[in-house]
Amino acid sequence: MREAWWRDAVVYQIYPRSFADSDADGVGDLPGITARLDHVARLGADAVWLTPFQPSPQADHGYDVSDYTGVDPLFGDLDAFDALLARAHELGLRVLIDVVPNHCSSAHPLFRAALAAGPGSPERARFHFADGDSPPNNWPSVFGGPAWTRVPDGQWYLHLYDSSQPDWNWDDPRTAELFDDVLRFWFDRGVDGLRIDVAYGMVKAPGLPDLPDPDAMEPMRLRANTLASDRPEVHDIHRRWRSIADSYDPPRVLVGEVNLPPERAVGYTGPGLLHQVFAFGMVTAPWDARAWAATGTALATGTPGGVTWVVENHDVVRTPSRYGSPARARAAILAILGLPGAAYLYQGQELGLPEVDVPPDARQDPAWARSGFSRDGCRVPMPWTTDPPYGFSLAPPWLPFPPGWGQYAVESDPPSLALTRRALELRSSLPFSPDDEVVFSADDDVFTAVRAGWFALVIAMGDRAVPVPAGQVLLSSDPLTSDGWLPPDTAAWLRLSGAEPKI
Ligand code: GLC
Repeated sequence: MREAWWRDAVVYQIYPRSFADSDADGVGDLPGITARLDHVARLGADAVWLTPFQPSPQADHGYDVSDYTGVDPLFGDLDAFDALLARAHELGLRVLIDVVPNHCSSAHPLFRAALAAGPGSPERARFHFADGDSPPNNWPSVFGGPAWTRVPDGQWYLHLYDSSQPDWNWDDPRTAELFDDVLRFWFDRGVDGLRIDVAYGMVKAPGLPDLPDPDAMEPMRLRANTLASDRPEVHDIHRRWRSIADSYDPPRVLVGEVNLPPERAVGYTGPGLLHQVFAFGMVTAPWDARAWAATGTALATGTPGGVTWVVENHDVVRTPSRYGSPARARAAILAILGLPGAAYLYQGQELGLPEVDVPPDARQDPAWARSGFSRDGCRVPMPWTTDPPYGFSLAPPWLPFPPGWGQYAVESDPPSLALTRRALELRSSLPFSPDDEVVFSADDDVFTAVRAGWFALVIAMGDRAVPVPAGQVLLSSDPLTSDGWLPPDTAAWLRLSGAEPKI
């Protein structure tokens, strides 16, 4: 096994509620995942990242954790987790799991103890409680409304997300100690690494002062609250965690969710810091050659292998809908898989799943009730087989399937599935290195990334077909025109003429 497997890994993100249901309750679970892991292995991915399956009231679908070292009965138990891990390793897949250190659930025993113990108690000091007739500061919650909720004795507690997600106080040394144990619990169990939720959060400005302009907060963007995100001291937490991860053999991997502009996100990796950041530059960039070239250039300044290429996850609109066409989504798959370093695919991206307009009364995202913004449309369960109920569950799914879901099923072999498999196969056979230099450019509406001087990723992002540079076309996301040009919304991988890879 190569030591630094993660540096150029393809990580497949599994949203357990929506992957596969083994016990006919309409919600996916760990045994369901285990039974379907061969799909991920056949795709050619190197690892899976599981979003939270720990005990939780599921107010934010697992991102409200009430016990960091267990499995919610909805998803199975620790034996089911061990079986999943063993099966993944048997298939050659590494396993990353989510850890949520910025906040817990209001049902966590330590938050309950804090409520019971009352103002001024050491139990309350684990969280951010404060007095006042009105909210102690003007911070908004990322999910809408104020970031403070009042308890019956008159104090307020801070929650950057939903009111069911109280923020831990990282100034209290007991918080770091608690999480040291959480990390060791999962590392001892054999998980290969962690995806750290809101890894740029946790630390708040001393005294929790007012934000100069709380209206500047965009929905779903913590980064606009500079008093509660991207604080320099957060790196001390990462250093502490890195030393724990490095004490294992093989070393465990830390991937931080860092939803900051690329120039800031790249500073989160490096020796002694996080191994990798789950970066958002490409998630937020519009379908535009200049925007992609600028984002790529900014991300590529990071530690090689430390920055990830990703366009989808469980929080954002699916790419066929976001970019406005399935062809663009296919081109984006070739983009993220053709750049040096690691790439993350979100379950269903390989099937070309579009965003679903979930009927308002079926929406479940807590952000929907707080702000009228819902992430349910990218969380509709996976279609495995062509006909309803699509092999996901024998019960009605927790989010309803839209009509025609079967056309995207694994069994239907949609075009993006074959493309993803082929791209992954080729990716592993080409002499790529995560250390390859990459030069991005945008010429009008053509995006180009030249890697190590010999390989080019070219995407026609405008509304006209464009000639491809001289060389051998290795793969394209859709067929070229009869003249060998790249049609609009199409990506190609090329071996450039006259340039040889250095092996
Ligand atoms: C992260 C997760 C998101 C969750 C939020 C709060 O951004 O990806 O799903 O709602 O953190 O934990």
